Amino acid sequence: MLDLPRFGSDPLRFLDGLREDPRDVVPVKLGPVNVHLLKRPEYIRLALENEDWPPISRGRMMGLDKWYSGGLILTEGAEHHRQRDELWKPLLADPATPGIAVARAARRADAWVEGEPIELFSTLRSLCWSIDWEALCGEDLDASPELLKAQETGVAALVWLLGPFGPARWGWPLPSSVRTRAARRRLDGAIDAMIAARRASPSSDLLSELVRREDDDVLVRATFKQWLGADQLHGLFTWALHLLAGDSEVEARWHAELDAALDGRPATAEDIRALPYTVRVVKESLRLYPPVWRFFRELTAEYRLGDHVIGEGHVMAFSPWVTHRDPNVWPDPLRFDPERWAEGAERPPALSYFPFSAGPYECHARGLAMTEAILILATLGQRWAFRPVDDRPPRPMATGAIVPKGGLRMRAVARAA
Ligand code: HEM
Repeated sequence: MLDLPRFGSDPLRFLDGLREDPRDVVPVKLGPVNVHLLKRPEYIRLALENEDWPPISRGRMMGLDKWYSGGLILTEGAEHHRQRDELWKPLLADPATPGIAVARAARRADAWVEGEPIELFSTLRSLCWSIDWEALCGEDLDASPELLKAQETGVAALVWLLGPFGPARWGWPLPSSVRTRAARRRLDGAIDAMIAARRASPSSDLLSELVRREDDDVLVRATFKQWLGADQLHGLFTWALHLLAGDSEVEARWHAELDAALDGRPATAEDIRALPYTVRVVKESLRLYPPVWRFFRELTAEYRLGDHVIGEGHVMAFSPWVTHRDPNVWPDPLRFDPERWAEGAERPPALSYFPFSAGPYECHARGLAMTEAILILATLGQRWAFRPVDDRPPRPMATGAIVPKGGLRMRAVARAA
């Protein structure tokens, strides 16, 4: 029982402790919930990549229903697979999104002023949401600060909605609950109006495609909101820029690649094959700071994994934070070394690295996310280098994702390309 307060007060430190436990599957009791953390890559693969388990339940995740009202991340089995294959995958494959990402990233970077401190985490988060918003509905989220605020309020609520009493707290007269309910009304109102407009007169945006594919407006709205809510790219950029600022050799090599491959022009998806070092930087950043630090499968019947029995109602937990930093899996795991990803380099077995998860419930956006990651990072790096403002390094903190505690303030230094 003592594990729950320790986990709650600092989840990453708690997980660091579990990493040192020699067992392949570490059972912990978080309050009333029996959790089994899978550490051995072979077990992680076995558990994630098959559908051989008894049906899963979304369990505690259902707390998020207060914000979303259904949608992919709150659905399992056949209906999940239908939404995944008929709604998400076709939209995620739309070739227009990377171009929107590069154009918006360039505009945002052009507005930064040499030497002025920028809080990178929140500015990159609003950049990513503005890209999602434009891809989905063709509009400019930056022009609607009240909708951006509503989105921020909703994402903050996703953390407490997953906690004990989360769904009950939604209805309480607490300031945070009242604020979140108002944010939901505001955001839903705006999205519902756009859905109605697309039903009357479709355009070429993703929302028009979505309403063409799905009759249920509540599900269309949930899908729209989950697109923004699930986007973890900003976390990747924040930590990648922090790591690059701390390693002048890697940074110089990266800048040299950008200059040679792009020669000052905007990056496109076709340039990715000429940016192998950028790809390595992205992969290595995702290894050290996987934005999604844990995820779960709650089992509706007993399940056997090797010698280990996971009981009915118990939860299998997976943590890229634990496995990616495990010295038994990765040599010298805390070293930022993009060369781990060089062609021909020796790497540990599959599922020693799983920032996007794997199997039927994995991140279906992994292809788009990698494309956007490479192109957006390249666009920022073409214009600016970043230097820390504060003496102390940022402290990673686990909320819905791994975020720098108190944000990450950096100074932009113009690059003489
Ligand atoms: C670096 C960026 C990203 C990372 C590291 C990431 C990682 C993840 C992870 C670990 C999961 C959990 C999968 C599981 O439970 O097995 C997930 C789920 C998901 N992600 Fe991503 N993601 C990223 C970007 C995005 C973006 C940009 C989108 C949308 C455009 C997105 C949409 C989703 C959705 C919809 C799910 C739920 C999948 C399901 O339940 O079937 N992600 N992501």
